Order: sequence, then structure tokens, then C-alpha cells
Amino acid sequence: MSEPIDVSLNRLAEGWRHRHLLNLESLSPEDITIILDVAEVLIAATKSEGRKLSLLTGKTIANLFFENSTRTRNSFSLAAKRLGADTIEFSSSGSSVAKGETFIDTAKTIEAMGVDAVVTRHGTPGTSDLLAQHLDCSVLNAGDGPHEHPTQGLLDILTIQQNRGSVAGLTVALVGDIAHSRTARSNIWGLKKLGAHVIVCGPATLVSRKWEALGVEVAHRLDDILPRCDVLNLLRIQFERQAASPFPSVREYALLYAMNAERMRKSKDNILIMAPGPINRGVEITPEVADGPHSVILQQVSNGIAIRMAALWLLLASPTAKVVVAKPTESTKGLA
Ligand code: NCD
Repeated sequence: MSEPIDVSLNRLAEGWRHRHLLNLESLSPEDITIILDVAEVLIAATKSEGRKLSLLTGKTIANLFFENSTRTRNSFSLAAKRLGADTIEFSSSGSSVAKGETFIDTAKTIEAMGVDAVVTRHGTPGTSDLLAQHLDCSVLNAGDGPHEHPTQGLLDILTIQQNRGSVAGLTVALVGDIAHSRTARSNIWGLKKLGAHVIVCGPATLVSRKWEALGVEVAHRLDDILPRCDVLNLLRIQFERQAASPFPSVREYALLYAMNAERMRKSKDNILIMAPGPINRGVEITPEVADGPHSVILQQVSNGIAIRMAALWLLLASPTAKVVVAKPTESTKGLA
């Protein structure tokens, strides 16, 4: 008989010491491995136990999103629910932010409702760190401007690992808008820590030589690096984060950087095609590649749920997780 799930999880989590998940830069390779291993156990458990577990019963997780999201927001919600937790969904539109309430006051208000973890996305780098300083509950960064998106980096690594066994020794190219991509930063930190060779590739206006300081290779021509790549992660051009267009036309960008059928023929036979989404068909990837046999884009989405379940469980229920009770504020003390 296999051991109960909490016994397996507790054993995997022995070295876990974190209260927040803010970035991959500050995690050790061992921390990253713990999250990936916990995610794999949770994938198996949700399959065998009919999807719903009760590992976080009685906990409440708030999604505090100040930027648009499809995948990240819904998968954090689903991850919480699959662990038996309750969720609060907050969007800045329709909230008292429109009445002038600050980011921190808004977060403290939500926390005072008895929340154990806040998942936050905001357009400004450092906002999740700021919340971690001001709140008593755990904070998970779901994207802070162009800075980091740790669960995206982790789900990308899990997807590579599932298809290749390990990321160590692989050549992974991040292609596109490196300058404005939080996915790029989290991928670089995570992949480097686990021993991959990382190439950042795109127009010089979006990929500067400065990236070499992080130990990655910088390239400006996709066709030159393609034959060496085991994995391509195709990043969207984040037009919303730039005042001026970084290249003369989208058509020109697509000619040089879009992954298409012709480029697939010049790639390794077993190349993995990834994208964090949303994808812009015809810009960074053509439909036949996005929907083709090498694409693991939807597997990334599924893995997003497992990684977010793992992160929530580690922060809120693993043996070394701090028991954090949200403190009612003066004005809410009598209401509970
Ligand atoms: C990314 C994001 O929002 O950072 N998407 C995601 O979370 N899956 C990338 C993007 O917006 O292009």
C-alpha cells in the first residue's frame, strides 16, 4: 500500500523554510526541487483521489489582481479549491481602488477578512515584496511588472522536466521581449540554478548585452541559435509596457523571430515549443507550430495548477510553514 499523501508531502518538505513566494532569484536549487517534487505528488494525488483534496481545508486564499490575467488567476483559484481552501477574488476594477484606496490599505482590508495567503499581481516591480513587509499572511507573487513571475518559471521548468527528465545540461532559448518579461527573469533564475544553458534572443532593442551579467548567452538571430536549442520559450511582445514600438513592424518581427514550419525543419527533432501565453498567433508563433506535435503550451497550463497547489501547500501547511493568523484591525475587531 502506498503511504498517505501527507506523509509523502511532509517528507519532501523537510528543508522548506519560506513563508512567502516572491521570486526565484532568492530560492536555492533545493527549494526549487522541493516545489517541483511536491507538485508531482499533488498531480498524482488529484488524479487518484478524484481531483479534490482536503490539505488546505479551513484556509482562505485571496487573489488580488491589479492587472489582467487568464491563466495565472484561474489556476491559482483552482489550485486553492482543489486543496479544499476557500477563495476571495479581488479585481481592481469595480473595487474601492477607484475611490482612492491605496494598494496597501486594500490588501490589509482583504487580509482582515481572515485570509491566510494573498496572491498578488501588479504592474509595478516590487509590489509583492512590499505586501510581504506589510501583511502578516503569506504573499505569493503572481507577476510584479516586468520583474518576476515565480510560479510561471516553476511551471515552465516542471513541463521541461516532464518531457526531458531533467533541465540540467539542456539549452533553453527565451525568444522575444526579454526586456519587459517577468517570465524571462523567473525562467533565467530557475533554469540557471538547475544547470541549464540559457540563451536570450530577440531584437537588440529588447535584448541588451547586459543580460550576460546573469550568466546567459545573448543572441539576436534566432536562425543562428536554433539548431542548438532543446527548448524554445516564445515570449509575447509586451506592447502595453512600452511607450514606443521596439521594432519597425510586427510583420518584420515575425519574419525574424516567429517560430514557423520552416524553422521547425531546422530545429532538433525533439525540440520542445513553449509559451507562457497569451499567444499571439502569427507574431511569435504560427498556428501550425502552436497546435503542432512539439507544442507543450497546454501542458504548461495544466502544470500551472499543480505548481500553484504545491506553493500554497508549502507556505500554508507544510510542517515548517509558519502558522499565520490574520490579525483583525482596530476597526474590524468587533465584527468577527
Ligand atoms: C505572462 C504574464 O502575464 O506575465 N502570462 C502569464 O502569466 N501566463 C506573459 C504575458 O503576459 O505575455
